Amino acid sequence: MKLKIDDVRTRFIKHLGGEPGSVYASPGRINLIGEHTDYNGGFVFPGAVEQGMIAEIRPNGTRTIRAYSIDLKDYDEFSIDDEKGPKASHFRYIFGVVREMMALGVPVQGFDTAFAGDVPNGAGMSSSAALESCYAFAINDLFGDNKIDKMTLAKVGQATEHKYIGVNCGIMDQFASVFGKKGNLMRLDCRSGEFEYFPWNPKGYKLVLINSCVKHELVGSPYNDRRNSCENCVKAIKELHPDKEITTLREATWEELKEIEGKVPAEDIKRATFVLGEKDRVLAVCDALEKGDYETVGQKMYETHYGLSKDYEVSCEELDFLNEIAKECSVTGSRIMGGGFGGCTINLVAEELYDNFVKTAVSKFQEKYGKKPIVIDVVIGDGSRKLA
Ligand code: GLA
Repeated sequence: MKLKIDDVRTRFIKHLGGEPGSVYASPGRINLIGEHTDYNGGFVFPGAVEQGMIAEIRPNGTRTIRAYSIDLKDYDEFSIDDEKGPKASHFRYIFGVVREMMALGVPVQGFDTAFAGDVPNGAGMSSSAALESCYAFAINDLFGDNKIDKMTLAKVGQATEHKYIGVNCGIMDQFASVFGKKGNLMRLDCRSGEFEYFPWNPKGYKLVLINSCVKHELVGSPYNDRRNSCENCVKAIKELHPDKEITTLREATWEELKEIEGKVPAEDIKRATFVLGEKDRVLAVCDALEKGDYETVGQKMYETHYGLSKDYEVSCEELDFLNEIAKECSVTGSRIMGGGFGGCTINLVAEELYDNFVKTAVSKFQEKYGKKPIVIDVVIGDGSRKLA
């Protein structure tokens, strides 16, 4: 993390006065493959990144939170007992986490806090999950004797998105932020909650993100519509097969998808087609990784991009353009990462092709769109933790 404790501490003291508090950090994430599968009960393959969110927190013995956003230079105070909470979303994340932790029985008290992050905003690297996980982890430590388990902390962040922000997201981002481990990706089965760490050390390859800087914004976006389409398909399959145990597309088969054609909007079928394909791709990537077969990993990434662009329709012109450049530069794998609608592509590139790819992507993008995309080398880092 480029951010240091002191970057936050000096502002904390300046804006909130008094003695230092405790300092916590939580990262953003990348995802190798398994997109829009989390809320469909499928598999995801994320890892935490070095970039994240740092928060300094000091209980103040009242029922009020006094919060300062260092990046936005914005201050607000709000009561933990007022059900409405603050308006600005950067404070609502904190408020939502506090309320959810209280609902779990944690005796949260008021606190003074300042926070800052170095996850690029809107890049699809989960800056909001980093913020939620940071406060969930910190509150558990400061007020809850660390009695809440880590998966529940991740769910607190997810519930915050659902109830306080309005994004019906899955569990991937908060899970990755809480459980991240340096040098490891994680394969999570979002239906059972089981997961395993996969050491990520691809010899001869690098992972690099190219941020289109098209602002990815899931609030009020068609993200929730995508989820609804998937749920429509599940309902339709259940109507045809009342005895079948099916709660998500994880349990759906290609045959069943065919059967519901004409019974749900064609658009919903397209969405589900992507999800079923993506389930298979994650498993294929796991097999390939075990054999060290990065060519197959990359091939699957391109297939995911195609599906996200044509069937799930969460790409945009700039991301498709970056994907084409990757192909032209013989990059092994490339695709949109995260929710879509902007943000980054994630690229698996052979080391000897890296310099040429990055140079070409930056110059061609700039030529076409008049602005430079941002290159972010992926370093897999640790999850939520206490720094001081
Ligand atoms: C966003 C959501 C996640 C997940 C991804 C798409 O990042 O927060 O839950 O659905 O989109 O894979």
